[in-house]
Amino acid sequence: MDIPVLTIDGPSGAGKGTVSRLLAKQLGWHYLDSGAIYRALALEITEKDIEHGSISDIVEAALAMHLSFECDKEFTVLLNGKNITNLLGLESTGNSASKIAVISEIRAALLKKQHDFKQAPGLVADGRDMGTVIFPDAKYKVFLTASASERAERRYKQLKLKGIDANLSTITTDIQERDQRDSERQFAPLVPAADAVYIDSSTMSIQAVIAEVLSLVR
Ligand code: DC
Repeated sequence: MDIPVLTIDGPSGAGKGTVSRLLAKQLGWHYLDSGAIYRALALEITEKDIEHGSISDIVEAALAMHLSFECDKEFTVLLNGKNITNLLGLESTGNSASKIAVISEIRAALLKKQHDFKQAPGLVADGRDMGTVIFPDAKYKVFLTASASERAERRYKQLKLKGIDANLSTITTDIQERDQRDSERQFAPLVPAADAVYIDSSTMSIQAVIAEVLSLVR
């Protein structure tokens, strides 16, 4: 049986995570947060004191790490049995992940881990290269974006809600730098797949985005 895959690619802060998790729940499909894999590897490198330039050591760590995702009431990520969910969400983890993600050997080492998520009855895959590189034959593809200022504003509000001190102009600069690095890298850059449906969520609610994506799938 052909297992359906819905890919949701886009820049950081476009709402991919929230939208993808809710869609996976509504469809009863599995969920792959590929960014969490890059983020977990970034944490593993720090934990193991591996230098950013030591590609073979990073590849070894990537192949050895054991990751599991729990998507019940809350989204939880375990790295080698340890709950790393809170550390994963830090801006610094996202920035380190974006830096190691430019290296092709590292991307190749993470390929199988991502393919393994494709299981019946279906998969919602969230990332940067889900529709272009990891699941190019996916039945449904979405490119979800929003303006950089709107994404920075959302991130700022999220951090404030969590009681974390945040500065809007620093967040905006970080987002712009990350967009540039993710889009201009040589391997698997952030670009919409030719056959992806483009959704700009700048002025849309989460529910409106979900309704639009569900209308593609149903
Ligand atoms: O989606 P995110 O913010 O959790 O991703 C963190 C970084 O990981 C992102 O800036 C680039 C990298 N990444 C990637 O290169 N390819 C993916 N499919 C997902 C994330």
